[in-house]
Amino acid sequence: MNLRKYLKRGLQYVRYGIPEKPVYAQISTLAPNELLKERTALITGGTSGIGYDISKAFLLAGAKVIITGRNKEKVDKTCNSLIQETGLNTIYGIQMDNTDVPSFQPKLESIIKLAGQIDILVNNAGILGGNINNSTEVEFDKVIQTNLKGVFFLSQIVGRYFKRNNIHGNILNVASSSSLRPATSAYTISKWGIRGLTLGLARVLAPYDIVVNGIAPGPTATPMLMRNGVRDDIALRKSLAGRYATPEEIANMSVVLVSNMSRMVIGDIVYMTGGAGLLTNDDINYNFD
Ligand code: NAI
Repeated sequence: MNLRKYLKRGLQYVRYGIPEKPVYAQISTLAPNELLKERTALITGGTSGIGYDISKAFLLAGAKVIITGRNKEKVDKTCNSLIQETGLNTIYGIQMDNTDVPSFQPKLESIIKLAGQIDILVNNAGILGGNINNSTEVEFDKVIQTNLKGVFFLSQIVGRYFKRNNIHGNILNVASSSSLRPATSAYTISKWGIRGLTLGLARVLAPYDIVVNGIAPGPTATPMLMRNGVRDDIALRKSLAGRYATPEEIANMSVVLVSNMSRMVIGDIVYMTGGAGLLTNDDINYNFD
């Protein structure tokens, strides 16, 4: 164990008075399956964290996958690593920046040329930041453009494409438990926006048999919060589950949500917070003594 972990455990002991034990996640992984056979998914921000694990789970469920990222070299490296991990080569990568709205239409056309068609859009790319105590206007705009404006316009373009081609597709938005909290940052505001947009898109696209839902992770062990993701200590005392969620858990649920098992889940947001959603929003003393 490195010094940082010892210090963290020591601090937790002082704060909570509980001797720290290592925390393990017991995850049932979806076995390779055919839930997404003959379907093609476009996943934004697939080079890291939750997007990476969703890409892997979709490949193992039989889907063709296209990932996006800002840096072409990183995108290509990620595709190679997914091929190595899954033994499947139905993965494509494309450089696409979520903040570059005018590029979406031409990029979508290249993606369709590359992969044939798209059936599933996962709006995953996102960044933290823009806290009210110190945010600049530039930082605020960057967070909103990445997390909300990009999602709005990409969903608009993909929604039109699904409708025009009579594709009974899915859009899955990666929301957040932050949208249950008072909004004091551009990030939290963007996730409140995603919560509303998910319901709105679901409402207007359902008549075309296009299913829109959200998945809202609580604190999850990815580079967004932890330098080494699941390889770091995943203990999290303030969560009722006692740990961070893992990106693999979010990915497993995402497979089910975009598959035909969930055609009747429409406009819903599945919260995967380990109890750190509504339950720990404590302003009174809860007990069951
Ligand atoms: P991450 O930092 O590991 O991954 C974010 C991904 O988005 C990266 O692949 C990054 O390259 C990409 N990205 C960022 N800006 C982009 C842009 N302008 N264009 C294209 N791609 C871009 O973080 P993580 O945790 O995997 O985040 C994924 C989603 O999950 C985000 O929407 C985040 O808000 C959400 N989320 C994460 C939680 C967590 O605790 N880690 C909790 C709740 C929601």
